[in-house]
Order: sequence, then C-alpha cells, then structure tokens
Amino acid sequence: MNSQELLKLAKKHGTPVFLLDHEVIRENYRRMRRFLPRVGLYYAIKANSDPEIIRTLYPLDCGFDVASLEEFNLVLENMPKKELRGKRKSSFIWDRIIVANTIKPVETLKKIKNYNTLMTFDNAEELLKIKKYCPDAGLICRIRVQNVGSMVELSSKFGIEPGDAPNLIEQAFDLGLSVEGVSFHVGSQCCNIDNYITALEASAEIFKETASRGHQMKVLNIGGGFPVPYDDAVPDFEEFSGKLRKELDRLFPKEVEIVAEPGRYLVATAAKLVVKIIGKAVRDGKTVYYVNDGVYGTLSGVVFDHCPYHFNSFKKRGEKKICAVVGPTCDAFDTVSTSEMLPDLAIGDLLYVDNIGAYSIASATNFNGFPKAKVVHLNQ
Ligand SMILES: Cc1ncc(COP(=O)(O)O)c(C=O)c1O
Repeated sequence: MNSQELLKLAKKHGTPVFLLDHEVIRENYRRMRRFLPRVGLYYAIKANSDPEIIRTLYPLDCGFDVASLEEFNLVLENMPKKELRGKRKSSFIWDRIIVANTIKPVETLKKIKNYNTLMTFDNAEELLKIKKYCPDAGLICRIRVQNVGSMVELSSKFGIEPGDAPNLIEQAFDLGLSVEGVSFHVGSQCCNIDNYITALEASAEIFKETASRGHQMKVLNIGGGFPVPYDDAVPDFEEFSGKLRKELDRLFPKEVEIVAEPGRYLVATAAKLVVKIIGKAVRDGKTVYYVNDGVYGTLSGVVFDHCPYHFNSFKKRGEKKICAVVGPTCDAFDTVSTSEMLPDLAIGDLLYVDNIGAYSIASATNFNGFPKAKVVHLNQ
C-alpha cells in the first residue's frame, strides 16, 4: 500500500484508522510454511484476536494457539460449523487448537474437558488439576529456555528447568496422563538464533531421556518469537529459518511432528495505523505533536510489547527536526516517542505507523473516553 492509497483510505474512514491487509497475512503464513516446511503452524491469537484473522488463516490449514477460554471460544465461533459436528470434532480440535497457557483456571479446564485438546503444562500442581478436570488432554511440557536479547522476555514466568523436565513428564505418565511432547518460547521478537538452537538441544535431550524411561514423545513445539523486520538490524528470515531448519533436521527424526505458535510474524507487517495531529506545542524547546491515538490505544505496544513505534509523515518536503509525538489522553505517560524526525507539521496533518499488526489493538483501551481506532479490513 503506497502513501497515496493510505491517505485516501484515511480520508474515507477517518482517523485513527487501523488498516489490516489480509493478503499480507496470507503471504506471511505461506512464507513461513515455505521456509519451515516441517513446521505446522498454530497462530497465537493473542497477537491480534480479530475474528477476521481466524477466518483468513483457517482455510490455509492453520491451527490456533489460545491462552484463555475466551480465545478458545473465539476460535470455535469462527470455524466452519461442519467441523464441529460428530466424530470429526475431536480430531479437528486436536489439529487446530493448542491451549498454550501453562496455567489454566479450573473453570476453563471444566469447560474444555469434552474437547480433545492439546495443552501445555510446566508444574506438578497443574498436572493434578489436569488429571482431575481434563484427563484426556494431550500434554506438552513447556521448558524454560534462554530469551537473550528478545524484545519481550517470557522465561521468568513460564517453563520448567530442562534438567527437571524428565521427572515432571514421568510424574504425568504415572498419573495416567499422556505427554505428547515438549515446548518452549525463546521470547518474542527473537533475533538471536542461539536462543532457538540451545532450546532445541535441550528439547532433544529431554526426548532422549524420556525415551530411555520408556516413553516415546511425538511432538516438538518451538513456540513463537520469529522476528519481524521492524528495522534493518533484524536478521533476514530466509537465512534465520534456514539455520533453524538444519538444526531441526539434525536433532529430530522425521517421526517427530514439529509445530510452532507464531503470533507477531503472521500479523505485524499486515497493518498500518493512520493518526491525525490534534494539537501542537513547544515544550522545553522541542515541538510536541498531540495525535488522536496513543499508548492507551493502538500504540499500547510501546508499553506492553516494548516496541518502539515510529511515525512517518505524508509531507515529504521540509527540513526534518527532532520532535515528540504524544497521545490524546491527559496522562503524561501517554508519550509515544520523544525522538521522532519529522518536518514542520500542522494541526489536521496525518501521520502513519508501519508494521503495527501485532500486540497493538490487542491491548488498546478506551481510557479517557477516546475511542479505539476503526479497523478496516483489506483484501479479505
Ligand atoms: C505461549 C506463547 N506462544 C506463542 C506466543 C507468540 O509469540 P510471538 O508473537 O513472539 O510469535 C506467545 C507470546 O507471548 C506465547 O506466550
């Protein structure tokens, strides 16, 4: 989408507007499948839970990673109804949904009991809950792996130490549960291939140790983390995934089914946000532009996702100067960036942000009464 098309859409729909291009989502899915052909994909819908994304990915054979009962139901509601009838239901759910939160409320387990789901665990207390409320689930043991350099760190909250995993897995089998495999997450927006490689080596050791104790596991879940090209420093995905592919083939025989839970990679590059300048002031010698979306809205990723979004101007002429861009609420925390390089702009001018499809509207609020950005779907 070039800037003229963007401008046209913003004029048609008003601002703030979140333009989500479904053809880009399909391209991202196909690229990932092409570069990692052994890896089946479960889209982590937490990245952007718009039901239309589920409808776009479903026909491509994509599965879904859900973290709550609400996300689980959202996937079910957006599936073709015929898939959910009769015998097909259980095999269908198995292939299409993984409950990838290692901590699940008892109420959730009770509600999903009758579906044949895959779910993750990383501690003994969770196993007791699963045994009581969801004894037929297929279990995946999540291990703690290094998240060095990843934009969002996840390992301090989830995953059992790899050295302790074989005993926990054995405990699950002793309870009569079925452990299908191992999972990990290297941290979101992971540009450090070593995180994946050490995690794969640790997983392969667990597969071996568990097999030596008489249990052959079948599934390796390599999580999410796949890096999005936010800037030039991000490694090229073809090269990155090539290294990953070689390690997968070296460490895991063909019989092991490999899956991943990409969130960001599938949706980040599929959306652009257009905002309007609603105020302009000079504070401490620096120009500050007030725009009609901010960290309480679509740009919430600045806080929760640690993602440093930047603004582009439609006005290309004029000397660029350092300035700040802040959101519309009455909180000074609502500062999106203090280091933008923009030409001199006026109230009413529009700005746009690229690559904002992931972890953006997912955590937007209506704080101070400012409405959320309008979502416009393109190429559905
Ligand atoms: C369990 C799990 N799987 C997958 C994802 C998606 O990760 P990403 O968006 O980095 O691909 C997350 C993100 O937090 C997660 O917690």
